[in-house]
Amino acid sequence: MPFEKIPVSDEWVFKNVRSTEQWTHGYHRYPAKFLPNIVKKIIEDYTIEGDIIADLFAGCGTTLVESKIHGRKSIGVDINPVAQLIASVKTNPINPDTLVEALNILAQKILVFEEADYYNLSTHDRIDYWFFPQEKYKIAFLYEIICQIEFSQNVKDFFLVALSNILKNCSRWLQSSTKPQIDPDKIPTEVFVAFRRQTNRMIKKNLEFFNELKKLNFDEVESEIFLEDARSTSIISDSISTVITSPPYVTSYEYADLHQLTAYWFDYVSNLLEFRKNFIGTFYSYENGLSCDSKLGQATIDELEIKDLRTAKEVANYFNDMAKVSDEMFRILKNKGKAFIVIGNTTFKNVKIQSAEIITELLEKTGFEIQEVIKRSIPFKLIPTIRDENTGRFTTLENKNSKKIYPEEYIVIVYKK
Ligand SMILES: C[S@@+](CC[C@H](N)C(=O)[O-])C[C@H]1O[C@@H](n2cnc3c(N)ncnc32)[C@H](O)[C@@H]1O
Repeated sequence: MPFEKIPVSDEWVFKNVRSTEQWTHGYHRYPAKFLPNIVKKIIEDYTIEGDIIADLFAGCGTTLVESKIHGRKSIGVDINPVAQLIASVKTNPINPDTLVEALNILAQKILVFEEADYYNLSTHDRIDYWFFPQEKYKIAFLYEIICQIEFSQNVKDFFLVALSNILKNCSRWLQSSTKPQIDPDKIPTEVFVAFRRQTNRMIKKNLEFFNELKKLNFDEVESEIFLEDARSTSIISDSISTVITSPPYVTSYEYADLHQLTAYWFDYVSNLLEFRKNFIGTFYSYENGLSCDSKLGQATIDELEIKDLRTAKEVANYFNDMAKVSDEMFRILKNKGKAFIVIGNTTFKNVKIQSAEIITELLEKTGFEIQEVIKRSIPFKLIPTIRDENTGRFTTLENKNSKKIYPEEYIVIVYKK
C-alpha cells in the first residue's frame, strides 16, 4: 500500500501532550528533536529488560534519556560535537548538592567580573560577527570560569550546556529563523541573567531526574554517546537489540550552521566548511553521482534533475548515505533485532520526495524485513511545517514561496531476519 494511504494511527499522535520538557529533555533547544513520547512508547511496547538500545542520529539524546529512565542500556552516535555534549549531560545527572556548590562558586566569581579585563580579548571573526562586545566579554568570562572550576568534567559540561543554550539569546542571531541571520533590531538578553535563569531551570530538572533514577534503581544504567559517523560506527556487530532513530531530513536543516555559536565558542571548529563535512542531509554535498539503489529514489532524482541538477545531486547523495546507514544498522543489530525509523516526506520544486518509502526500499535492499509502517500526524509544533517551495528549506509564512509541509510522518519498523 502506498504510505500516503495508510490511516493515521491515533495512539501515536499524542494530541494531549502539554510539555516535551520532562526529565532533562528541555535542557537545550535542538532542531527536529524527537517527541519523547514516541521513544517512550516504542521502549514500553517493544523492548524488554536487558535490551540494548542504539540511536545512530542521537542528536540531543532523547532516545538515551528515555532508555535510561526505562532501565535500558543505550548507545548514541552523532557527528555533531554539540549534540554529544548535550546528550552526555542530559543522560548523566549529577549529585544535586555538588551542582549547587559549583553554582555558588560561579556566582561568587560573577560578582567580581571586570569588563575591562577583556578589552584586549581576541576571538574568532565569526564570534565578532554574531556578538556585541558587551555580551562577548561576559561569555568569554563565563567560559573561562566554568573551565577553571575544580569539579569533575561532568559538572563543567553541565554549565557549558547552560552557556551553550543561552548563546543565541545573547547574540544578534534572528531568533525565529531556521537559518543563521542577523536581527538588526535585536537587543540581546543580559548574559548573567540568562545564565542564572538557565542554570536554575536545569538544576531543578537534574534533581527530578537524579531522584527518579535513584528511586527506580536505574542510576547506574549505562549510557554512552560517541562522536562518530552513522555510516561507520565503532558499535560491536550483532550487539544491539533495538535501534530507535530519526535521520536528518533531506537538505532542510544545516546542523553545523545552526550550532556554529557553540562550536566557535567551545573551540570545536575553526571554520564552517570543515564543520559541515560529513553531516548527512546537508545542502553542501560533495558527491556528484545521480544514481540511487531505490527505484522510487531513482525516479525522484531523475525528475529533479530536469528541474535543478544541484538539488538532484544532493538528494541522490542523501539516499546513498542513508543506504550506508541502513547497512550499518543491520550490522550492529542482533538477529531478530528491530529498527524504528521516524521519517517524514517532503517536496522540492514541486517534486515529491517520498523519503519514508525510499528509505524503506533501501532497508529492504540491505536485508531487513518490514514489520509495520505507522503513520502519525504532528499536532505539536516540534518542527517547522513551512517550506520554501523553491529551495526546500524551512521558512516562515511571510515568504511568498512558502508551503505547509510535514503534517505527517512515518515510523517504519523493520527487523533483521
Ligand atoms: C533529526 S536529528 C536527530 C534528533 C534526535 N532524534 C533528538 O531527539 O535530538 C538528526 C541528527 O543527525 C545528525 N547527523 C547528521 N549527519 C550525521 C552523520 N553522518 N552521522 C551521525 N549523525 C549525523 C545531526 O547532527 C542531527 O543531530
